[in-house]
Amino acid sequence: MSKITKSLFGDLEGKSIYRFTLYNNKGNCVSIINYGAIITSWRVQDKDIVAGFGNLKDYINNDAYFGCIAGRYANRIAAGKFRINGNLYELARNNGKNHLHGGNKGFDKVVWDTGSNEMEEQPLSLHYLSKDGEEGYPGNLKVKVEYDYTDDEELIIGYFAETDKATPVNLTSHCYFNLTGDVSKNILDHSLLINADHYTPVNESQIPTGEIKAVGETAFDFKEMTTIAGNNSTMEAGYDHNFVLNKNGDPFSFAASLVAPEDDLQLSVFTTEPGLQLYTGNFLDGHLINRDGKPINQHSALCLETQHFPDSPNQPGFPPCILLPGKKYFSKTVYKISYNGKAAREIQTKEG
Ligand code: GLA
Repeated sequence: MSKITKSLFGDLEGKSIYRFTLYNNKGNCVSIINYGAIITSWRVQDKDIVAGFGNLKDYINNDAYFGCIAGRYANRIAAGKFRINGNLYELARNNGKNHLHGGNKGFDKVVWDTGSNEMEEQPLSLHYLSKDGEEGYPGNLKVKVEYDYTDDEELIIGYFAETDKATPVNLTSHCYFNLTGDVSKNILDHSLLINADHYTPVNESQIPTGEIKAVGETAFDFKEMTTIAGNNSTMEAGYDHNFVLNKNGDPFSFAASLVAPEDDLQLSVFTTEPGLQLYTGNFLDGHLINRDGKPINQHSALCLETQHFPDSPNQPGFPPCILLPGKKYFSKTVYKISYNGKAAREIQTKEG
């Protein structure tokens, strides 16, 4: 079992916010705070491969979901409305006329409970009770997220939930990656492979049309490793789209691989989820400042959000997302680092 250290990160509403740091035997570490269940840092060798801030205030003030767990329903729900068994539910509309990432105060903006145990060993478990009616959602939803960082460089995220009324649930990690560790370098130079033959086209307010379309040889074709910039030539702001992952009957499967331009670090993603939202930081505009003082600009970092498809509560053709009382929600995603080139040589030297 690998170790966890705990230190005070700040205070909010009379509650202590701690930073938990999960170490592996390579000396690399992932830090998580119990505000928003946010991943604040992932240090691999001499780099921090996630963009983020050095203090709680910047997390509280950020409007871009940095490193958080997004929920109760990550991504968009059209017009903030859906029906279950004929009952209409209306949610907060916080993204134009749509609902996004759980509403005005989603799981990203709440204090998660660290439980009674001292958590000296992994996994780190964070709990949150989302009350019946919160942001318009039905049912008391008990949520648990577990973080585990292994000696094989896998960051394993387990998501668990139970409810007392039928409710949509869609949980994801909204980590912003830049594998160079330098947010002044544009992530459009990273290479990406997505294990998806299809994607879900969207309308002008980013709500899926309901179609499941072949990526063909379009800008959505990441079936082979290709630079994002190269593929992106026809896309103006970048990507903010859901890909339909190829499952081939395997519930837990390979979703994507991202490689830094120097071909140095590789991040691979595996998940039980049916979809992957590729978000290339299109709305980032330099007003948020990274922990090292550098502005986080458009395309400074990207998100690989494993999830159910956007607007699933209103899309009968998409995989179902309604959790029923007595049933257990479970989802698992693994982000795994591997080394190429110089990084691999450094590891070999260290290990003798
Ligand atoms: C998701 C959405 C984006 C944007 C970001 C946060 O990735 O799909 O449109 O809202 O979150 O800025």
